[in-house]
Amino acid sequence: PAGWLADTRGRTLRDLRISVTDRCNFRCSYCMPKDVFTKDYPYLPHASLLTFEEITRIAGQFVAQGVQKIRLTGGEPLLRKNIEILVEQLAALRTPEGAALDLTLTTNGSLLTRKAAALKAAGLKRLTVSLDGLDDTVFRAMNDVDFPVQDVLDGIAAAQQAGLGPIKVNMVVKRGTNDQQILPMARHFRGTGIVLRFIEYMDVGATNGWRMDDVLPSADVVRLLQQELPLIALEASQPGETAQRWGYADAQGQHDPAAGEIGVISSVTQAFCSDCNRARLSTEGQLYLCLFASQGYNLRDLVRGQQTDAELASAIARIWSARTDRYSELRSAEGAAPPGDGKRRVEMSYIGG
Ligand code: GTP
Ligand code: 5AD
Ligand code: SF4
Ligand code: SF4
Repeated sequence: PAGWLADTRGRTLRDLRISVTDRCNFRCSYCMPKDVFTKDYPYLPHASLLTFEEITRIAGQFVAQGVQKIRLTGGEPLLRKNIEILVEQLAALRTPEGAALDLTLTTNGSLLTRKAAALKAAGLKRLTVSLDGLDDTVFRAMNDVDFPVQDVLDGIAAAQQAGLGPIKVNMVVKRGTNDQQILPMARHFRGTGIVLRFIEYMDVGATNGWRMDDVLPSADVVRLLQQELPLIALEASQPGETAQRWGYADAQGQHDPAAGEIGVISSVTQAFCSDCNRARLSTEGQLYLCLFASQGYNLRDLVRGQQTDAELASAIARIWSARTDRYSELRSAEGAAPPGDGKRRVEMSYIGG
């Protein structure tokens, strides 16, 4: 029945992450290292991009199959021209039960001061901003295009002002590079209503030169925070959630809601594939069943062919039902060496995290 489409491991389809561009104005070394993503890099040509109408049509069929949350990603999604029009189209979709979607977006925040109000007006529900440090020198080095931290902080403030809450901030932690920013970031966002999440640096793609030595395990992050800011574990708020939640404790050791919470996303040291309910649609309409997949399923040909919506929906159902992916679990089982099938994995900037 609609709403309960399960894969071979019993995981239901719930989230759709849609990448709307493979371009970005930042060059974070863990995602788009400067020496690889030069101006000669083969970015997707314009004609291969799905149009907003095509994206919305595909998304509608995912929603018919049980998707309740849609996240727009990139590259940097706010670089896609007129993105608020796509948001408006997706905001009009309804689940089979008639509910609106959890519609959100992950951005680097660089264009937020300009775009926050329009995104809210178009129907975006909430927002996640990537921010890898508070110190301007560290942040400029992380984005590697000398982008000032204050502009992102202003963007976050603009989003809050526009009512795009609850806002989350994602910090990818690289040992020896920005780990000294963990405490300043926590102090800064504590009590603001913004949920700060620390992400283990992952071995996505084939260009970031990932090494296990660069990963700071979430357990170490939590231990570091605990020394100054006592935390207590919180229940997951949704099945299949990426983050483990921790609340700031008050003097009695209870969760202090006013101080808020943090999250840790531990895909390297504690894989969360067992209830992974996420499908990914690339900018050119390839459906990927895992962040670490090397092969997608071409939905663009289906929407550009003569297929009806029902045929599109049954193609999605067929592909999801046969899903076996659990890359991070297998990687953990095999130690630091990724299993891999010899094929090149897709890049983060192509699939959107
Ligand atoms: P919420 O809905 O707010 O919980 O967001 P999210 O964590 O699902 O998405 P977000 O774009 O904020 O991603 C946070 C981090 O988790 C990024 O580093 C993503 O690459 C990573 N991530 C998201 N989904 C998956 C997944 O299915 N597998 C793995 N390994 N990492 C994921
Ligand atoms: N490991 C972990 N997180 C990453 N992101 C990008 N590349 C990596 C990586 N190699 C994060 C971004 C963004 C989210 C979608 O993914 O910072 O917050
Ligand atoms: Fe751009 Fe985000 Fe990748 Fe950084 S992590 S290069 S901001 S897409
Ligand atoms: Fe899902 Fe793949 Fe991430 Fe595992 S590694 S949680 S299967 S996307």
